[in-house]
Amino acid sequence: MLEDKQRWNKRYEENPMPQSVSGVLEKYIDNVNIGQALDVACGTGRNTHFLANKGFDIDAVDISDYAISKVKNTPTINKIETDLDKYNITPSKYDLILNINYLNRRLLSQMKEGLKQGGVVIFETFIIAHGDFKLPTMNLDYLLRKNELLHSFISLDIIYYEERIDINLRGERIKVASIVAQKS
Ligand SMILES: C[S@@+](CC[C@H](N)C(=O)[O-])C[C@H]1O[C@@H](n2cnc3c(N)ncnc32)[C@H](O)[C@@H]1O
Repeated sequence: MLEDKQRWNKRYEENPMPQSVSGVLEKYIDNVNIGQALDVACGTGRNTHFLANKGFDIDAVDISDYAISKVKNTPTINKIETDLDKYNITPSKYDLILNINYLNRRLLSQMKEGLKQGGVVIFETFIIAHGDFKLPTMNLDYLLRKNELLHSFISLDIIYYEERIDINLRGERIKVASIVAQKS
């Protein structure tokens, strides 16, 4: 959506985004065969760059031209500036599909199809929370429901699942769900 592109370009210009690699990716990367990876909504590439250093070939997809311009130009990173509302994941292509801090429900079943046999999905994003929590958006389409992520990948072998309280860059309490699951 054009709105997403404009909104995210503005956010990147105004707000700091985490530059350190995602904790769940760093912790579980040794469960993944080094090969082909997809970084869904890669942002400025903190996780893409980590995967490139590990030896992966990465398709790094994002709608923000500002974010994509910050992703390194190197032969093992295929930068794809496009709208994920219209993008289709190639079936059986990936050893790893990574999705951090982004939700597009249309892609959930495509992610399962996109994994090779033995491929792993690592997915972490925000959950709807009540009370003393900061929601990253008021658009509930972009927030997970309780247990939704687990249900979405229940047909895979679940290596790890957790819903927990975390603190964002501005020191606010948020809730996130994380899953690591493998296609057998
Ligand atoms: C919170 S950032 C997360 C970036 C990255 N995954 C990370 O963890 O650093 C969300 C990203 O989703 C991208 N995004 C939002 N809507 C999108 C869409 N419709 N198509 C592609 N990317 C989109 C934004 O441009 C932004 O880079």
